[in-house]
Amino acid sequence: MVKKNTCIFISGYGSNLQTLIKKSRDYNFPAKIKLVISNNLNAKGIFHAKKNSIPYYIVNTQKRNYDYELLKEIKKYKISLICLAGYMKIIPDRFIKNFRKKIINVHPSLLPKYKGLKTYERVIKNKDIVTGCTIHYVSKNLDSGQIILQKKFFVKKDDDISVLKHKTQKLERKAFFESIIQIFRYT
Ligand code: GRF
Repeated sequence: MVKKNTCIFISGYGSNLQTLIKKSRDYNFPAKIKLVISNNLNAKGIFHAKKNSIPYYIVNTQKRNYDYELLKEIKKYKISLICLAGYMKIIPDRFIKNFRKKIINVHPSLLPKYKGLKTYERVIKNKDIVTGCTIHYVSKNLDSGQIILQKKFFVKKDDDISVLKHKTQKLERKAFFESIIQIFRYT
């Protein structure tokens, strides 16, 4: 199988990155992780890139026109798909337009519910019965692009923020994996 070159953007732990690197070794998985981008020099996730000899690039989002340099870097690797996996910065609209390929994001709620931050807090505050995660295409409005896949679970009475986070992130890893298969198989 000819695998599509994929780039993962991270800001922190990179648990989604870790799983994707592992899964990408499956013969049948359609993506190969060619590049990791982090906006945070100290992101723990960079360790996974280093350990697996995957090139990584630290982007300085404070720099004017940083998106041009970033795009130049990404183009070197002939990237077909960008996965935002815990990337905590907004992607400039100009970058989305210039990249012209697919960009997907993982979000820890059942969109369109709870766009933005503090999703677990809002689930608890509103006494939601069900929550989960969403994989969606990235568009110019935050957490608003077309939904690819969602995974849900029932919230238990005693679930606190850390329990919700744990359960949601477990589903995120599965959802990412399945979405990438879906994207490359059906589009
Ligand atoms: C994920 O839960 C994602 O939904 C959120 O940030 C978290 C990052 O996790 N936006 P990791 O860096 O992949 O461990």
